[in-house]
Amino acid sequence: MTVPWGRVPGVSASHSAEMTWPEELGRPRAGFLVILLSFSFPGAYCELVVSPVGPTWVNAIAGSSVTLAVSFSGAPDPAVTWFMGDLPVVTWTINSDTPPDVAQRHRGVLRMERDGSLTFVNVSLGYTGGYSTEMTKSGLNKAAANFTLEVFENIQSVELSVQPDFVKEGTERLTLQYSMLRGVVEKQMWFLNGGEIKPSSRYSVEQRSLVILSPNRSDTGRYAVLLTNPFSSGTAHVNVTVLYGPDEPVLEARPAQPFYVPGDSLSLFCQAEGFPQPTAEWAFGGQTLSDSRKGVLNRTNVQTSQGGVYTCTVFNEQTTERRQKSMILNVYEKPAGNPMCSVRSANVNADLQYHCRWSGGTPQAQLSFPALSDTSSGAGNFSLTVTASDYFNGKTVTCVAVHPVEENKCNVTASGPVEFLPAVRTTVDSEGKIVVAIHCVSEASPKAVVSWSKGSEAVASGTTYQIGSDTAQLKIRDYNVSYFLLQNYTCTCRNPLGSQRREIQLGGPSISDSSLFPNQDGTIITLTWEVPPTSVVTGFDIQMKGPELLSENRNGSQTRGTSNTYRTIQQKPGSARSADIFALNPSLTYRFRVIPKARMTEGEPSEVHRIGPGEGLSGPAIAGIAAGIPCSLLFLLLLGGIIYLCVYCNKNKSRQTRYPVSRAVEKAITTQSDTAPHNLLTGGLKSQPDYNRFQQTPSERSVALPTFVAPPPVRVATTV
Ligand SMILES: *[C@@H]1O[C@H](CO)[C@@H](O)[C@H](O)[C@H]1NC(C)=O
Ligand SMILES: *[C@@H]1O[C@H](CO)[C@@H](O)[C@H](O)[C@H]1NC(C)=O
Ligand SMILES: *[C@@H]1O[C@H](CO)[C@@H](O)[C@H](O)[C@H]1NC(C)=O
Ligand SMILES: *[C@@H]1O[C@H](CO)[C@@H](O)[C@H](O)[C@H]1NC(C)=O
Ligand SMILES: *[C@@H]1O[C@H](CO)[C@@H](O)[C@H](O)[C@H]1NC(C)=O
Repeated sequence: MTVPWGRVPGVSASHSAEMTWPEELGRPRAGFLVILLSFSFPGAYCELVVSPVGPTWVNAIAGSSVTLAVSFSGAPDPAVTWFMGDLPVVTWTINSDTPPDVAQRHRGVLRMERDGSLTFVNVSLGYTGGYSTEMTKSGLNKAAANFTLEVFENIQSVELSVQPDFVKEGTERLTLQYSMLRGVVEKQMWFLNGGEIKPSSRYSVEQRSLVILSPNRSDTGRYAVLLTNPFSSGTAHVNVTVLYGPDEPVLEARPAQPFYVPGDSLSLFCQAEGFPQPTAEWAFGGQTLSDSRKGVLNRTNVQTSQGGVYTCTVFNEQTTERRQKSMILNVYEKPAGNPMCSVRSANVNADLQYHCRWSGGTPQAQLSFPALSDTSSGAGNFSLTVTASDYFNGKTVTCVAVHPVEENKCNVTASGPVEFLPAVRTTVDSEGKIVVAIHCVSEASPKAVVSWSKGSEAVASGTTYQIGSDTAQLKIRDYNVSYFLLQNYTCTCRNPLGSQRREIQLGGPSISDSSLFPNQDGTIITLTWEVPPTSVVTGFDIQMKGPELLSENRNGSQTRGTSNTYRTIQQKPGSARSADIFALNPSLTYRFRVIPKARMTEGEPSEVHRIGPGEGLSGPAIAGIAAGIPCSLLFLLLLGGIIYLCVYCNKNKSRQTRYPVSRAVEKAITTQSDTAPHNLLTGGLKSQPDYNRFQQTPSERSVALPTFVAPPPVRVATTV
């Protein structure tokens, strides 16, 4: 009764090299002992027991041999049946002479051991499954034991693929799937960038794949799968990029400023996250700007026309997603110049309309009169109307002009008309009518409007009366000066803040004041005169009484010899206030007067101005003698003086610097030495007239101008 040992029981897999006895000695000995003991007690034949030797879960590599080892007790030589699943595949009665009955299909693989264990020779993957053995002996209970066999192949050439090819953020799922040339996988593990992926709501590990739900940009990385079975392992990795974006672009202007002014330089930046990096494009006014690069738009010397809405479009070429965002570029320019304030009258002088204007600019300036209203304002051009009252008379009202670039102000002060003096000017028109123009101008803001009346009735424009477009002038026309004197005229200057009234009483032609200014040597005189402000004068006759003028004599144009009546020697227009009379003989006496005229009507003559020697020496002979004697005496004296001086001068010439003398001055010296006696007679009688006031022809009089500085020799002689 010894157990035959076909193979060493208890060895689960025998793909490895031949086992050595000393290692595995312990276990067979123990089994042997049990069996030996059970046979020592014959009373134990009551129950058949079968038990696995070693593990009931057996792994085997394909191509190797493996044994599902059992041992039994309780009865000798039981009948053994092995099932593959439910299917009996091998039956045998232990120790019988008939060989085991192996199912036809499995004859090359399955072999029954003498102890009832089942051995698989050159096992293949198809033998993976559940196995069980049943032992029976007549008269005894059936005994059974279960096994599981798993047959593995070595894992080879693992590859990892991604579905879909391009993963976009927001797609439903991303599947990583492995494949391999051969192998049986017992366990798969997934890694992202070296960290193990644990299944979760986002990750699920399915048959041969890892599914990522709603993948996002953070799922980008290096994925790896590790496949293992008890005999080998394999790994593969793949780089996954989740495409995304463009995200909301970030727009920025640098340098950052609330606004820019023309001439500034700036850059607009447009940046958006995304993979691959999105392209960025700027557009302005519906036009794509070609000069932007990588989302940077440079602007140098920016102009107001370049202010406005800039739109950036970012585009992901791979996902074909695009986004837009806009920003406003403010380019501001203040209006030209300064704000202008004014005030006008409105509603027939009842209201004042304050006006403020500062037009142009980008944007327009906001204008307001804070002193008048807190609430109303206007852009560029603003008016505010208030009821006129004394409060506004002389009050300075400020317009505040607010523009982003500059704040500015202007002031305006309304005032009622001030007192004024009317001005009267008389002319003669082409028809020969006397035209009297009366001006009434009163300082006022707003400008005063003038109303006219004659006597008590209003003046209306017509043929006789003409009121200027600005109302400040009234023109009256008539042939007869008496017409102007019939009535008094009244002008009233009025604005919303008050009025001023003046009555003008026109007067006939008259002269209020007159004077005579001789030149130094008495050959020329200037008559000047004034006219009352309201006098109607169209011209003047300059009259003279006395001897003929030298010029008259030469020309032979005037009557000769008559010296006892006034005769008109010049006629002057109404605007003239002076007359020059030339070629007088300083040794004779002349009388002059001025006759004011209003066309044909003459007014009172001016006072008479006399020039010449005293009243007693009236006869021409006496005058000649009187003039001749002192003249020759003085001439001799002068001559002596000059000679003396010449000698004196020659002496000192070497050490005296001469005055720089121009040609004109040299000529003046000769002229003056000729007329020296006259000079002495008339010089210093009257103050010198201001010749600069007179219209003069320089060629006629430059020689004898009183302002001339006489050269030293003559002065010395005069002193003597
Ligand atoms: C995947 O990415 C890693 C770096 O992240 C790189 O070293 C590797 O070459 C990449 N593999 C492939 C297949 O592109
Ligand atoms: C914009 O200006 C910066 C420097 O100011 C320069 O580096 C950049 O190249 C310019 N970009 C373009 C598109 O001209
Ligand atoms: C306007 O008037 C105020 C006082 O009323 C004065 O301070 C200011 O300088 C004036 N501004 C101008 C521009 O005249
Ligand atoms: C001017 O008018 C007055 C009165 O109306 C009259 O006496 C005089 O003769 C007139 N003179 C001329 C030149 O018409
Ligand atoms: C004009 O006014 C003056 C003084 O105001 C007066 O003496 C004269 O009588 C008036 N003349 C007429 C025609 O009313």
